[in-house]
Amino acid sequence: MKPVEPVRIPDTNTVLRWRRDFPILREHVHGAPLVYLDNGATTQKPSAVIEAERAYYEHMNANVHRGVHQLSQRATDAYEAARARIARFVNAAGAEEIVFVRGTTEAINLVAQSYLRPAAEPGDEILISAMEHHSNIVPWQLVCEQTGAVLKVVPIDDSGELDVDAFDRMLGARTRMVAITHVSNALGSINPVARLIEAAHMRGVPVLLDGAQAIAHLPVDVRALDCDFYAFSGHKVYGPTGIGVLYARANLLEAMPPWQGGGDMIRSVTFEKTVYNDIPWKFEAGTPNICGAIALAAALDYVSEIGHELIGAHEADMLAYATDAMCAIPHLRLIGTAHEKAGILSFVLDHVHAHDIGTILDSCGVAVRAGHHCAMPVMQRFGVPATVRASFALYNTRADVDALVEAMARVQEVFGP
Ligand code: ALA
Repeated sequence: MKPVEPVRIPDTNTVLRWRRDFPILREHVHGAPLVYLDNGATTQKPSAVIEAERAYYEHMNANVHRGVHQLSQRATDAYEAARARIARFVNAAGAEEIVFVRGTTEAINLVAQSYLRPAAEPGDEILISAMEHHSNIVPWQLVCEQTGAVLKVVPIDDSGELDVDAFDRMLGARTRMVAITHVSNALGSINPVARLIEAAHMRGVPVLLDGAQAIAHLPVDVRALDCDFYAFSGHKVYGPTGIGVLYARANLLEAMPPWQGGGDMIRSVTFEKTVYNDIPWKFEAGTPNICGAIALAAALDYVSEIGHELIGAHEADMLAYATDAMCAIPHLRLIGTAHEKAGILSFVLDHVHAHDIGTILDSCGVAVRAGHHCAMPVMQRFGVPATVRASFALYNTRADVDALVEAMARVQEVFGP
């Protein structure tokens, strides 16, 4: 057997080379060099993505699936090639399992309305977790209001880890759907999703994974995970805003009714009857975000060229370094200390509001998110109104963490230790 190579942490020069791929990182804010640590909210874009958008508008802009002219053919070919590329990135069985949507939120709403709503009956249960963000709560609450189904919430412990025993106990004869985040946006916890999917499938329950915070940081193989639905946003994986992906098993998509009507999702229309298009176009009513899809594929190419293994090793190193450095700050409390964590560091200072910390950090050039992170129930679970969240991406360095720590000293100067 070949010995397993230890995962290599990329050296400083390698990371500095990655940084140079992102023009915005040369910006200054408030006279200080930008230190961008708000990657959980959105990631910056490499030149390859910016160039892909420019090339699209300079050489192929036209509507897809409609024109007989050359430009429309180019746009259609590039749009469908992007779909095939994305299918390979997540190891879907085929491109028809990739539906383009606006983002994670729209993907989850699509599944809630098109898959679950027609099937749900009063008393059916939808299992989510206490660490979900609003996009993986509210769509299911809407289905509950519409059908009489009931939302069940699997608890998390004080470190922000899912209570897996409770999950097993709560999976019951009435469970119709499991919808769980792969990585928590507010806590960074990585859920044991393969284990959860196996348990759900033993009871015949389909599983949707919210991959918004995972896709840029972990390898995602939908067939190895055996998930039924996987949702993610382009802008959190170095691609543009306004484009995202719903992966769904082909047989599920075939059985689901369309959820929006209009152009592109039809085969033929009369006033008496409309015949729908094949999957995945059945779910893509109207002119899609053609340029966004093409640029998203360019973003995934960029990630693949570097490789998830190297990105993961670098981000894990950053998280360990930042965790040590931040824990040395007096009165700072980390919210989210799960064993398996992605590069997200949420924290509070009990005597200073998160927004005040965020504002002072910004004045030092450090961009973080301060607030409830669109996950108000997580804040309630930890008894805090808000946290400050530093979230890492492949282009962050230890120098960025040092800048954060230095800016925190400024917070202590203003508010006292
Ligand atoms: N869900 C995004 C975040 O975590 C907006 O910031």
